[in-house]
Amino acid sequence: MADKIQTAYHDSKDIYDDVLTQGSFFSRLYIKLFWSGTDDNEIARKVLAYIPDDFSGVLLDVPVGTAVFTKEKWRSLSNATIICLDYSEDMIAQAKARVADCSHVSCIQGDVGQLPLEDGSCDIVLSMNGFHAFPDKKKAFLETWRVLKPGGRFIACFYIRGEAAITDWLVKNILSKKGWFTPPFQTKSELKAVLEQMYQKIDFHTDGSMVYFECVK
Ligand SMILES: C[S@@+](CC[C@H](N)C(=O)[O-])C[C@H]1O[C@@H](n2cnc3c(N)ncnc32)[C@H](O)[C@@H]1O
Repeated sequence: MADKIQTAYHDSKDIYDDVLTQGSFFSRLYIKLFWSGTDDNEIARKVLAYIPDDFSGVLLDVPVGTAVFTKEKWRSLSNATIICLDYSEDMIAQAKARVADCSHVSCIQGDVGQLPLEDGSCDIVLSMNGFHAFPDKKKAFLETWRVLKPGGRFIACFYIRGEAAITDWLVKNILSKKGWFTPPFQTKSELKAVLEQMYQKIDFHTDGSMVYFECVK
């Protein structure tokens, strides 16, 4: 499974940013046809808006990917300590290059299921488009919770199953087979039940087959 993920993100390293940000006609068509037009740029803006512009604590960005959505925000938060982690060597190399001049940002290759951080060491854990890719979602929920301080905030967005048949078909038959996504996937009610057991003050939204939320440990 781990090698499949490395290979999938290696093979897509040159088109990744374009597809997520809808930089070309074909990526816009793909999003329109298979994702009901749900705009990842818009979701990224909403998710990043949960993080105050004067944030000065410790933030973990997992998985950072290429930092295509987060690089500007991380650059501007110069009083914060930002730790970016991703499993893919190719993705983390691109993220590293993008924030190379920011001494407050570090990039680590690693596994969300085994975070190299102390219990309660983070004020915010951000996970953009990660949980649909993580192979062990239970470990990912437990680890992101473990590294948060009491009162710390878990902010995330990712795909959920059961909202649109065409998206579910694409995820099952193409994205999961290639290794960009890894089953099993939660439905909206399954995810809500997990969050309600672990967190308080849950601000939960869906947009097509994507969910985005903020909650407090
Ligand atoms: C769809 S990308 C999202 C990246 C970025 N947050 C974004 O929105 O562009 C999913 C990422 O999850 C990473 N990933 C998959 N399994 C992982 C794991 N076990 N630990 C950390 N990262 C993982 C992949 O390498 C990939 O970069």
